[in-house]
This record gives sequence, structure tokens and C-alpha cells, in this order.
Amino acid sequence: MIDPKNVHSTLESAQLADGYPMVMDLEKSKGVYIHDSRTGQDYLDLFTSFASWPIGYSHPMMSEPDFVHELTLAAQNNIANSDIYTTQMADFVQAFSTRATPSNYNYHFWVAGGALAVENALKVAFDWKAHKLGVGQANDGNDLVVLHFKGAFHGRSGYTMSLTNTDPKKVALFPKFGWPRVSTPAVEFDNDGRICNDIEALEQQALADIDAAFECYAGRIACIIIEPMQGEGGDNHFRTEFLAALRRIADEREALLIFDEVQTGFFGSGKPWLWEHHGVEPDVVAFGKKTQVCGLYANSRVDDVPENVFHTSSRINSTWGGNLVDMVRCRRFIEIIEKEQLAANVAARGAEFLGGLRDLARERGHITNARGVGSLVAFTLDSAATRDKMLCDLYAQKVLALASGERAIRFRLPLIISADEVAEALGRVSDCMPAGVRA
Ligand SMILES: Cc1ncc(COP(=O)(O)O)c(C=O)c1O
Repeated sequence: MIDPKNVHSTLESAQLADGYPMVMDLEKSKGVYIHDSRTGQDYLDLFTSFASWPIGYSHPMMSEPDFVHELTLAAQNNIANSDIYTTQMADFVQAFSTRATPSNYNYHFWVAGGALAVENALKVAFDWKAHKLGVGQANDGNDLVVLHFKGAFHGRSGYTMSLTNTDPKKVALFPKFGWPRVSTPAVEFDNDGRICNDIEALEQQALADIDAAFECYAGRIACIIIEPMQGEGGDNHFRTEFLAALRRIADEREALLIFDEVQTGFFGSGKPWLWEHHGVEPDVVAFGKKTQVCGLYANSRVDDVPENVFHTSSRINSTWGGNLVDMVRCRRFIEIIEKEQLAANVAARGAEFLGGLRDLARERGHITNARGVGSLVAFTLDSAATRDKMLCDLYAQKVLALASGERAIRFRLPLIISADEVAEALGRVSDCMPAGVRA
């Protein structure tokens, strides 16, 4: 096996390798700590592979012999799950559809990758809208558009690049559709967790933008898509009132309401899905990351069109239809999350972490708008440069965290994190606070 010291040079000789300097040791990484086999040091993982790894490392339930046998069987065979069915797949689908998906959502679709989950959610909407208009009216679908938000990140695949508008270099120079993009009424919080910006004015502006878009693209908007909290765009939270307004508009204007929960979903908020905190039901939800196998679930609104994509072969499909290893692993995650009550755990630990950050903001200044729910926690710094420096300092303090938007840092806590580990995290964050006069 290649020596850890040569991992980066080996990768660099064949690909872009601009990731972390560490080399993760899969055997020695434990719980919330990633072991770096280059330096022998442990890093506190508050980034969880971009919110995709919920249960920490070397979880004992992942190495129970029966489970390892099942996982190995799935890994030794890579089959086309869309067409060849297995008991492993049925176990997964049953577990996911009854223990992760809320009731009322009877349709599922599985694929590998979050962008393709979103992409297929859009296809569900295009197909639905084109049929509702009458296929001739929709110009074979070519006239249909997607209403989306400034600061959105929905992936880097074909359709999704027309929606993603965070860091311009992620989509620049690739052909895109000029679909309607409206302003984003993000809530800002003071150090007591109260809303401290003029959110009603921002929401009025966004609703006016949406109204104008529906007038401009009369009858052509197939769906409204939104992350119920924008992740990459800056951990931008929305009020329930705003999401409820989107629900009303989608109903009145004959558009599907799609929530992109690739980053926010699957128990990371303390509930299975972030939208459940708001009680505003979307028509379609795209998921990925922590779910391992990605995809979407949809409610019966698609049945306005009897020959929708869930009843017509090959309208949405892929060779592997997800990946069986991911399915087996996801089912195990559901078992672990339930057995260890990890959703409740991360709700409580996230609240402690957020409370600690707000205390730091009060005592030390420099950080503002501490915000979050469950594992999804962030704060804002005064400039991109200060933020970037703090991220470097955190890495030096052996904490992995992520940038968010122009000047925020986001944390994606492991669902297993303990109160002691939250205290440890707060201590290290405190050590990395920008220097300066106390507020
Ligand atoms: C909200 C959201 N949607 C879609 C995606 C794309 O997922 P993937 O990178 O797995 O294609 C991401 C990835 O970060 C995301 O955060």
C-alpha cells in the first residue's frame, strides 16, 4: 500500500488534488475524530464530509458480522437496481419509505449523487407541467422554466448549473438556461436568537419578484425550487411564513414546490427533514449526502397527470438506480439513528453549540448572526478575509469546518456528538476567534 506521505504526490501525478493536507486513516478514525496517518494527529470533524457522514467513524454497529456480511455481498456485486431486485434493496426501500420519508409521500426515485437527485426532481416537474399544459402547448418541454433563488446551490450537473449561483467559478463558461432567479429573504439573528433584520421587507421584495416572474413566464414555470435553508449560499434561514407563501403560490400558479434537502435532510436538523420544522409540505423533496443513496420522494400532486414519470417506464432512470452498497449502508444508518436516538441527540447538542457560539459573540464580539438547527450551525464574520483566516486557524487547532456564503463559517456536526465534544469544539473555536478588543 502507498505510504501516507506519498498519497498527495501520487494523486497529484494523475489528478487535481487540492483537498486537505491530511490523509485519513479509516481504521484509526474514531467517533468524531479523523486520524491523520501522515502526522498521527486527530482532527475534530465538524464538517462530516460536507454533511454527508452522520454517525462518526468506526461505529460499532457498522462492524457487526451480520451487517458486514450483507455489506460485503452488496459490494461484491454491482447490479442494476432499476431492473434486478434484491432482498437488500427491498429492506432498504421499506426502511427508508416508512421510517425516513413522512407519510403522504408514496413515490420514490433513487440515483447516485445529489445533483442528479435535484435534476430528476426538475424532470418530475417538467413532465407534470408539460402534460398539464397539453404537450403541444409546452413546445415539447422546451419553453418550461424553473423559478429559483439567489444564493442557491443545487449542484453542478446540466440542469442544476442553471440554478446554482454561489461561487461563479463553479458554473462559469458552461452553457446554462436563463431561468428566473429571485431575491432571497434570509433571516438574521441577534445574540439572543431574535430576528434582527427587516425580514418582512425582504420577504415582500422576494414575493414581488416571484409575482413578476410568474407574469413574465406566464404558464411556463414548472416548479419553484428552494433549499429550506441555503447551505453553500451562506446558511440562509427562512421564516415559516415565507415558505408557506411559496406553498400558496405553487398551488395557485400550477407549479410544483420542490425542496432541495440534499444538505439539510435525513435527521441532521433533529427531525428527518428540515421542512418538518416549518410544517410546510412540499410536493417533491430531493435528498442526498447523509442518505448515501440519493434521490427524491413525491406526494400525490403528480397524480394530476395519470401518466406521470412514476407510472411511465424510463422517463427518469439510470443504469444502477442508486447503488446497493449505499442502500445497505443507508438502512443501517436508519437503524443506528433510531436505536441511539441521534436525531434528538443532535437537536440538543446543536442547541448547546449554538448557545455557546452566541455566548462567544456576546463576550468577544467579531462573530454575528450565530444561527442553526441541529447539526446545521453557522456564524458570520466581518469579511471574507477574516473568515478564511479563521478557517485556517481552526484547521491548525485540528477542527474541520467549512466556508459558507461570502463570509460565514458553517459546521455540520456529527449526529453522535456528545456534550463534552461540543464543549471541546467551543473551546477550540474560542481559541481561533479573531483577535481584537472585546465588545
Ligand atoms: C443543497 C444541495 N443540493 C445539491 C447538492 C449537490 O450534491 P452532489 O455534490 O452530491 O452532487 C449539494 C451539494 O453540496 C447541496 O448542498
